[in-house]
Amino acid sequence: MSLSAGTLGVCVTKIDEVSPEIRRFTLASPDGRHLPSFSGGSHVVVVIPNGDAAFRNPYSLMSSPYDTSTYQIAVRRDDRGRGGSMAMHRQVREGDLLEITPPVNLFPLVKQARLHIFIAGGIGITPFFSQLEELRLSDVPFEVHLAVRGAAHAQLGEELVAIFGDRVHLYRADAGHRLDTGAVLAQRPLGSHVYVCGPDSMIQSTLACARENGWTDSHVHYERFLQQSSGGDPFSVTLARSGITVHVSPDQSMLEAVEAAGLEIPYLCRGGACGRCESDVLELEGEIQHADDWLSSDEKSANTKIMPCVSRASCTRLVIDR
Ligand code: FES
Repeated sequence: MSLSAGTLGVCVTKIDEVSPEIRRFTLASPDGRHLPSFSGGSHVVVVIPNGDAAFRNPYSLMSSPYDTSTYQIAVRRDDRGRGGSMAMHRQVREGDLLEITPPVNLFPLVKQARLHIFIAGGIGITPFFSQLEELRLSDVPFEVHLAVRGAAHAQLGEELVAIFGDRVHLYRADAGHRLDTGAVLAQRPLGSHVYVCGPDSMIQSTLACARENGWTDSHVHYERFLQQSSGGDPFSVTLARSGITVHVSPDQSMLEAVEAAGLEIPYLCRGGACGRCESDVLELEGEIQHADDWLSSDEKSANTKIMPCVSRASCTRLVIDR
């Protein structure tokens, strides 16, 4: 397997069926060496071949940061997505080689926290696995609140209950359990930090509840990788430095279209959170549909910058400084 600069080749040593939609992949170095170290909340980007192109999907590392003999990731099959997760489920087998980026942490634990509260929906529990491993060796209290659709989707939560007992609260919608975020966030001691990962609606409602309950923004942390899958109308973008114009199809992000054309824009999260792909807009005839969490509202209104990993444009001309 030929690797891109800066990526790692890993072997898929085990695939577990976690639920009807989720598979857990165990990855190891083909030569048996330890993989790069990481901290709780880190993710890697998996390069999934797709004909002449590739999907590049970010996945949280679920394994222990204290054991880098393997990594584990969990992949939820998204039947309405663009195909990356489907390819992971359908094409990847034990013994296959995969290309991944080294771990990056955009969702770390706050070391000064006096209480950690984790709120997750479904597959959003994955970044918390490695964070909870980190907390095993600490005296700082924590609690986990995980909402899932039903018994068939509860296995990851049940694994955490088996390890961490009553510090993990599992809410199964099919059993009528409801996660009351307002109650979870009310009357918490100074120095508490809350972390949320899940569907956009859960992130938004947690942010709103935190504000209502007087939390300061610096104590509220969230991770959103799901926007990458949202498509939109096609458009074209010209990269000023090469002069190449790239067509972005409805089911591609601008970043993916540029990569498919053999060009590169640096990235870390591919989800509009890290700022790495920020690009200056040199010319625009039309509108940008900003979908990131990085640019300020003033920057978005000015339309002088764009995040190609998640944002699109409705335009007749777009030139970026790349
Ligand atoms: S790659 Fe992180 S914001 Fe685009």
